[in-house]
Amino acid sequence: VVNGTRSLLRAYCLLPTAYCLLVSACSIAPSTVDPRGPRAAQIAEIWWVSFAIASAVFLLVMALFLYALFRPRPRRWDEPSERMTDAWLRESGARFPGQRFILAGGVALPVLILVPLSVYWLVKIVDIAAPRTPPDFTIEVTGYQFWWHVRYPDQGLVTANEIHVPVGSPVRLLLKAEDVIHSFWVPQIMGKHDMVPGKTIETWLQADRAGTYWGECAEYCGVQHAKMAFLLVAEPPDEFAAWVRVQQQPAAEVPDPVARRGAQVFARECITCHTIRVGNAMIGGTGDTPGPDLTHFGGRLTLGAGILPNTRGNVAGWVGNPQAIKPGNKMPVVYLDSESLLAVVSYLESLR
Ligand code: CUA
Repeated sequence: VVNGTRSLLRAYCLLPTAYCLLVSACSIAPSTVDPRGPRAAQIAEIWWVSFAIASAVFLLVMALFLYALFRPRPRRWDEPSERMTDAWLRESGARFPGQRFILAGGVALPVLILVPLSVYWLVKIVDIAAPRTPPDFTIEVTGYQFWWHVRYPDQGLVTANEIHVPVGSPVRLLLKAEDVIHSFWVPQIMGKHDMVPGKTIETWLQADRAGTYWGECAEYCGVQHAKMAFLLVAEPPDEFAAWVRVQQQPAAEVPDPVARRGAQVFARECITCHTIRVGNAMIGGTGDTPGPDLTHFGGRLTLGAGILPNTRGNVAGWVGNPQAIKPGNKMPVVYLDSESLLAVVSYLESLR
């Protein structure tokens, strides 16, 4: 009775574990098996095919395991079964017991499964290596600890942590890294691509449905690796063109007196790391630590590399003490009085 109760208790303890395993991958976005582009669709297909085959093999092995557990067997271990006797081995021509079964299950079956599967994987990998039609333009993304510098050389614009693309057409991607290895990943659009300092990695992406997709760094790159995210905004071609036109403009004039005061504070405190395009000139970024271009910061959806919605309160919190929100990031704490802080926030919000 005691043993029975113990087993029951153990089973109850295992239930939450089993439940966690069952639901651990259950979330809506960004799911790799909910693809929104051709590359992610192929990857999802590879996943489902591999999962189906692996499940079949698992069920087969489990069935054999149960058979081995419950099949009729000699009553005592020192009584050899018929198949273990020398006479049986001589008669069957086998060198050891179970030879045929081991050759079939351990050699023939894996070869029959893995060789076609490898060919299938290779065909798919080649298929997603390049787009069917040549890309319309190029986006250059450079990874920094812990944010993304984004440049559109064909359109002549620079932004950060938010990548816009038109729906339905392939875009050429050039991936770089400035300090350590990062990895560019948009689970619903494409697989991971490492960004290696000193190298330029060429690849592509395409979104087939309009939407805002979560992207993140997929290579451990330091203390704030987990908070190195970005958004990929896929929009209809006319909306994308409108976005490009806005981004090509220099920073707008600042009519509001508070924001004007904020611009002065910004020019004093922030400009060694951050850049802003004013008129035809790019100002700032003269220091050793580059920070994101903020020319159109007010129009972005998030701040701090995808970690917070771009609201007035969050911007104030971030500028006030970025180290409290993302400890170890490269933005130092700049001690501003509350009036200057709110003025800078007004200025940043005006940069649309
Ligand atoms: Cu950048 Cu991890």
